[in-house]
Amino acid sequence: NKRTPLVAGNWKMNGDPSLVEGMAAALAGYDGAAQMVICPPFPFLAQARELFAGHVAIGAQNLSDQEEGAYTGEVSASMLAGAGCGYVIIGHSERRALYGETDALIAAKFARAQTEGLVPILCVGETLEEREAGKTEAVVCGQLQAVIDAAGIEAFARAVVAYEPVWAIGTGMTASPEQAQEVHATLRQTVASYSADIAASLPLLYGGSVKADNAALLFAQSDIDGGLIGGASLTADSFLAICRAAE
Ligand code: G3H
Repeated sequence: NKRTPLVAGNWKMNGDPSLVEGMAAALAGYDGAAQMVICPPFPFLAQARELFAGHVAIGAQNLSDQEEGAYTGEVSASMLAGAGCGYVIIGHSERRALYGETDALIAAKFARAQTEGLVPILCVGETLEEREAGKTEAVVCGQLQAVIDAAGIEAFARAVVAYEPVWAIGTGMTASPEQAQEVHATLRQTVASYSADIAASLPLLYGGSVKADNAALLFAQSDIDGGLIGGASLTADSFLAICRAAE
């Protein structure tokens, strides 16, 4: 396929200025084919922009669905674009589960991101209970469909989708390459039912306990175009090894 491999590191609420420094130094020498994206906490975006200097793209982990105004504690899409972000993670399962984000709010954030030229990394994924009840496809396709309905399929020409089974996040339990591929193929087919071209160009990332030693088999699957990496994005060696596995 012609999709550029993409590996995004989601630092979550971890890290400090010295991690930005160390990571920038370590990633500067990478000249492989994968597009690297680092998503640090908001306070480190400016430092990341300066130190990553275009070599590594920068993303945020969240944004407001509102344009501007009296929304204490929120950060707008235009602020993120102004801070040098090219990407923003939307609808991570931690936001859905811990902060009550609904499909409707996630769709609004997705649209807001795109009005400022940010590329949304839309996360979808089922819980263990849903998987065991045979609802994986219904859940992930429902989460995707909610955004397609609100934003239109054309919006997916400028987006990334990440499949993250909730039971695999931070647990050390990764989906098998076959399990992940099955879901990725279903997600791509959902998009293809509207537009074959958009489906063919849409980067689909896998996330959930991706490590240096399991990345290559996951990325070898035909519909897995890279990863959304949590824990293993906090050390340069493991993040770089995962980027190399994605090439
Ligand atoms: O956004 C990243 C995912 O939640 C995966 O996290 O690699 O620590 O399991 P993890």
